Amino acid sequence: MKTQVAIVGAGPAGLLLGHLLRAEGIACVVIERQSGEYVLSRIRAGVLEQGTVGLMERLGLDARMKVEGLPHGGFNLADGERLIRIDVAALTGQSVMVYGQTELTRDLMDAAPARGLEVIYQAGDVALHDVAGNAPFVTFARQGRDHRIDARIVVGCDGFHGPSRQAIPANVGRVFERVYPFGWLGILADVPPCNHELIYANHERGFALASMRSATRSRYYIDVPLTERIEDWSDDRVWDELAVRLGPDAAAQITRGPALEKSIAPLRSFVFEPMRHGSLLLCGDAAHIVPPTGAKGLNLAASDVHYAAQALVAFFRDGDADAVAGYSAKALARVWKSERFSWALTKLMHRFPEDGPFERRMQRAELDYIASSEAAQRSIAENYVGLPL
Ligand code: APR
Ligand code: PHB
Repeated sequence: MKTQVAIVGAGPAGLLLGHLLRAEGIACVVIERQSGEYVLSRIRAGVLEQGTVGLMERLGLDARMKVEGLPHGGFNLADGERLIRIDVAALTGQSVMVYGQTELTRDLMDAAPARGLEVIYQAGDVALHDVAGNAPFVTFARQGRDHRIDARIVVGCDGFHGPSRQAIPANVGRVFERVYPFGWLGILADVPPCNHELIYANHERGFALASMRSATRSRYYIDVPLTERIEDWSDDRVWDELAVRLGPDAAAQITRGPALEKSIAPLRSFVFEPMRHGSLLLCGDAAHIVPPTGAKGLNLAASDVHYAAQALVAFFRDGDADAVAGYSAKALARVWKSERFSWALTKLMHRFPEDGPFERRMQRAELDYIASSEAAQRSIAENYVGLPL
């Protein structure tokens, strides 16, 4: 098979890029290791920046989001004594959309056949070849047969554990990484949220986040040491810890219920440079990871894809090779700003084992400053709703 762009990975980044390219008449194929059902089974965050919502609107794929999504004009920081509301709508003129990533992926997946976006699922042993040259190709096995797709450009949207980043030679790539000394234990339950907006809490006992998927489905998190095992956390133990960490007012509003999903995920900040090598571009988690504190993972994937689609349209339509050459620098400029915000909010809202009384006082002082300064709140707000594309 021959195409213009071979996209590896059919998560949000791969599907969004595929739709954007097809909408511009660029031939592409998406190659995915898992089944569509498996891709949809992954529980992921669900706070969308306006830029991400805008891409779905541009594709005309925002109908369900507009009906089922929850526009939020603010969110809250709590430190055990008070709630500091960050009024993002008043401070930035923008809001965020609470809409599960699974639902966004489903919208992209369901629209693919009608829009001529070919997605090959259950492709085994996917490998990238000759990406440094002008005639790269992707091979994979499926239903007992070996396949090859020749393309002019390959885009790796295969997440943190995919093969694309590995296709860039070690002497070319550079990794920047911080692994955090805790994980997030998440619980999903069909119970109404305890608050109409998100609450990020820094309590003496640790971090907690009250989030949601809808008016009837809630998503909560607490941070736990990396040595913790999910088997040791009964639903009741999680609900009890959430009630303490979120504070008495929120606790009084918590509705308990059986966990639909409960798991512990590690946190890391990770950036791989460059995000282009020859005819290979990287988008999303294939190139970077953020701690979920700033809800940036999916939104960074969307901005990468926006830049990649812009570059590829210029390349294939106008023969503008500089557009592709400039992709990495353009994407990384925004990636690093989101990495900074996610890291800073993680530092502010979590207890680090190495922190002493002084560091705790610094956190209290920063929260006091944020509570009293519109300028400080505006800075947080403009990062939370998403910096301009
Ligand atoms: N071959 C083909 N596909 C692969 C391979 C492979 N060898 N390895 C991984 N994949 C697929 C995965 O099955 C997954 O469907 O690539 C896709 C990567 O999707 P994500 O991990 O969701 O990454 P991305 O699309 O960049 O989305 C980034 O969304 O999933 C969240 O936490 C993520 O918030 C982040 C954002
Ligand atoms: C979620 O709803 O899963 C969520 C929301 C905001 C975050 C992280 C996760 O910062």
